[in-house]
Amino acid sequence: AKNVGILAMEIYFPPTCVQQEAMEAYDGASKGKYTIGLGQDCMAFCTEVEDVISMSLTAVSSLLAKYKIDPKQIGRLEVGSETVIDKSKSIKTFLMQIFEKSGNTDIEGVDSTNACYGGTAALFNCVNWVESSSWDGRYGLVVCTDSAVYAEGPARPTGGAAAIAMLIGPDAPIAFESKLRGSHMSHAYDFYKPNLASEYPVVDGKLSQTCYLMAVDTCYKYFCHKYEKLEGKQFSLSDAAYFVFHSPYNKLVQKSFARLLFNDFLRNASSVDEITKEKLAPFSTLTGDESYQSRDLEKASQQASKSLYDAKVQPTTLIPKQVGNMYTASLYAAFASLIHNKNSELAGKRVILFSYGSGLTATMFSLRFHEGQHPFSLSNIASVMNVAGKLKSRQEFPPEKFVETMKLMEHRYGAKDFVTSKDCSLLYPGTYYLTEVDSMYRRFYAKK
Ligand code: ACO
Repeated sequence: AKNVGILAMEIYFPPTCVQQEAMEAYDGASKGKYTIGLGQDCMAFCTEVEDVISMSLTAVSSLLAKYKIDPKQIGRLEVGSETVIDKSKSIKTFLMQIFEKSGNTDIEGVDSTNACYGGTAALFNCVNWVESSSWDGRYGLVVCTDSAVYAEGPARPTGGAAAIAMLIGPDAPIAFESKLRGSHMSHAYDFYKPNLASEYPVVDGKLSQTCYLMAVDTCYKYFCHKYEKLEGKQFSLSDAAYFVFHSPYNKLVQKSFARLLFNDFLRNASSVDEITKEKLAPFSTLTGDESYQSRDLEKASQQASKSLYDAKVQPTTLIPKQVGNMYTASLYAAFASLIHNKNSELAGKRVILFSYGSGLTATMFSLRFHEGQHPFSLSNIASVMNVAGKLKSRQEFPPEKFVETMKLMEHRYGAKDFVTSKDCSLLYPGTYYLTEVDSMYRRFYAKK
């Protein structure tokens, strides 16, 4: 199989959201802390009728319907998620309801978990399967689904929720450059979920930022090294049209891209211009550790990378800024933003993606765009996803209502023997929603 990659995509996020500006006022944070400080506009959240299973049921059934894929054509289904509803039964098995109906139970794959990285693990598994000798000619399907919720406090505005489904196969408009990959994996306690009675993570916010930036640097180093061995020339920011990052909040994405430019400067890449060299020269002798602590470097490199950021990163930021951190779906929602914004100009271009999951696991990898053929074309993917339409038809909740919902969800997490309000008035037709969890913890869903 050649040009294996993403043939089709669908994204779903809850229509319920809260404005970050309103959250600032409600939390008593200084004005601009969430909107400018974190760089976030709005945050989506699940109400009591939605969860990671309902969102992924919606994304998968919508993808199959809109691209006219017979469920029998799926041979592998992989889910990435860090939202634990059951410690044994995978989310994938819930999704089998869609496929059993059409008589297809011959589908490999289960769930992958490591914080926000599970979706990338699932994606690599599917791509590897299609490229392998065990491939049976059918499509792979990857689902990234998470509800990101935090306890009250500084991390709460970095929540979000979404599910993304991606169809995998050969001759894809979004093809993997499989040899171009750099990973960094190590042991850290930056963000983890040791309390099995709570949906909320334990977070060391500052440490998680440093871990993320160190992973960016290390992955980029390995990535460049592999590129140089393969291509016989140096890699620099000018060798890719776009850079897409896992996006816990937009400010960290700005800092990450600035770090890449700093790396190019330290490696003496020929693409780095004189003005940038001048601006970054004072920092050339910092040790690695010092460089993560230096506010002056942060400022100087963000300034120096501003115009490159506007061209190569800004078009990827729409959905993460509007929906928030979607954990496993966050990177792919950023990628979906790029297709939404630029689909007609992407053919032939290279895009670099950076996936990060706390704990920690990270990979930087490369994709190449092709025109594609209907229904698997970039323009059709953009129109199926209908990002602008979905963003526009959302319902804004006041912060009080959001906090009330969080309290109810805390109560419902791990609970049994309840029925939901079954109120699906805010959901679009075709959306799945939770109706009941019975005395045996079995979950039941309906479709609007
Ligand atoms: N106007 C403009 N900017 C402001 C204002 C204001 N009124 N007030 C603060 N800021 C800026 C700060 O200067 C800071 O920016 P900087 O980093 O460029 O200096 C930014 O807003 C955030 O302010 P902090 O005081 O650093 O925020 P705090 O420590 O309260 O919380 C944090 C931020 C740590 C990111 C928290 O939200 C968190 O823990 N989030 C979850 C962890 C996370 O997402 N980590 C990322 C990788 S791991 C993962 O994906 C889960």
